[in-house]
Amino acid sequence: MIDKSRAPSRAIVIFGATGDLALRMLFPSLYFLESEGLLSDDLLVIGSARSDYSDAAFIARIEEDVKKRADGDFDPAVWSRFAKRVRYAGIDAADASAFAQLTALLQGVGETVFYLSTSPSIYGSICANLKTAGLAHANTRIVVEKPIGRDLASCRAINDQLQEAFSEDRIFRIDHYLGKEAVQNLIALRFANTFFEPLWNHGSIEQVQITIAETVGVEGRWSYYDEYGAIRDMVQNHLLQLLCLVAMEPPANLDPDSVRNEKVKVLRSLRPITSAEIDKRTVRGQYGKGIGEGQAAPGYTAEAGGEASKTETFVAIQANIDNWRWAGVPFYLRTGKRLPSRESEIVIQFRQVPHSIFPGAELKANRLTIRLQPEEEIGLLLMNKTPSLGGLELRPLGLNLSLDDAFGEQRRRRIAYERLLLEALNNNSTLFVRRDESEAAWTWIDGIVDAWNRSGSAPTPYAAGSWGPAGAFALTERNGHSWFE
Ligand code: BG6
Repeated sequence: MIDKSRAPSRAIVIFGATGDLALRMLFPSLYFLESEGLLSDDLLVIGSARSDYSDAAFIARIEEDVKKRADGDFDPAVWSRFAKRVRYAGIDAADASAFAQLTALLQGVGETVFYLSTSPSIYGSICANLKTAGLAHANTRIVVEKPIGRDLASCRAINDQLQEAFSEDRIFRIDHYLGKEAVQNLIALRFANTFFEPLWNHGSIEQVQITIAETVGVEGRWSYYDEYGAIRDMVQNHLLQLLCLVAMEPPANLDPDSVRNEKVKVLRSLRPITSAEIDKRTVRGQYGKGIGEGQAAPGYTAEAGGEASKTETFVAIQANIDNWRWAGVPFYLRTGKRLPSRESEIVIQFRQVPHSIFPGAELKANRLTIRLQPEEEIGLLLMNKTPSLGGLELRPLGLNLSLDDAFGEQRRRRIAYERLLLEALNNNSTLFVRRDESEAAWTWIDGIVDAWNRSGSAPTPYAAGSWGPAGAFALTERNGHSWFE
């Protein structure tokens, strides 16, 4: 609780405080951090947006959303502790003269995190205004949301604007997938167990599949989404981050640069997808009408009143990492909206045993599945003997680790932003994307988009509620593989 007799020494300022992300994710996350005692007593929370609110009216506004999100976990005592920290600054963040109010609120505050939950089009002016107001200094840092550009050139332009005011070590680029529990667990699984790492290479792994399937459509975000499509909205960031964590070399430690150096090496080893290969290695789709979340759902273009669009809502890609560890191992990436189920998972398919001593038995190769959503689970498929007399009969069985079963009692499913906010407040940037990472990812994505544009083709329609266009199946079957569903 803020002690009014002395100035708070820390603050987090959220620009875009009345926007969807702030209301649905950021304030509820801060509330949960409060409930776990993870916010320092001297932290001030300032919401800032253009609308006119008194502190009390703003607090009442965010309380509604926190209650909705916390559901049965809402505790009035925690809320009243949290509410005491909250202030509101009604300013137009793009207007330099408006920053006096913020400067006054931050009088005497030392360490400050500025969270830009606004349109990236005003990141540049916010940074410039913070600098002019003397608020960009060694004790302050910024957190920025995606999208950081829609291609390499625009990403660089945004990065340049950010770096005009803040040095790279004080810029925290969010990819909310890096805040997910199961994604963190992937690092633990790989590097806190001895038996995976010796097998974690092309000698033992046949293929890797990473799927992020969603049942929702564009959810009223058409004007944003139509500019970006699945490749920029999901692949450039979330899928490539997952791919990096699966494929990177063991970092020396968990320091920000140790981990991010390894990730950037993976991104730079991605084989470019050229025009000659574009049809073999990528598939684009756009959902038409069908079923969405158990009900009749309109097609993508109908959601925007019938406007024609060539934007993809589904993409499947065969990525290859050209380095010693992964030579010849396809990484299949797939994501889409209006698919049959909400499922995010990473599947590591091991190779078949080199020689079978079980005549007539169908041996299934080992498979490790790391499920992020809807449940957090880890499964390992192993061949077992069926209990019986007479010959050896074999059957694949799953060794399953459910994080809910293991930690159910102690566990609340956290919002990914809770972890990320905490890390930003603690000045630890390991879980944030560095400039060179974001640019290396765009370099690879730009190559694909360029090849698509040159081909002049359009996304193939698929029915809402299906697993995307038939071409997505052909993509894996061409190599004798198939998607695990
Ligand atoms: C966001 C995308 O980054 O991630 C959305 O902009 C997508 O289009 C969302 O729905 C998916 O996140 P999650 O955490 O629900 O899998």
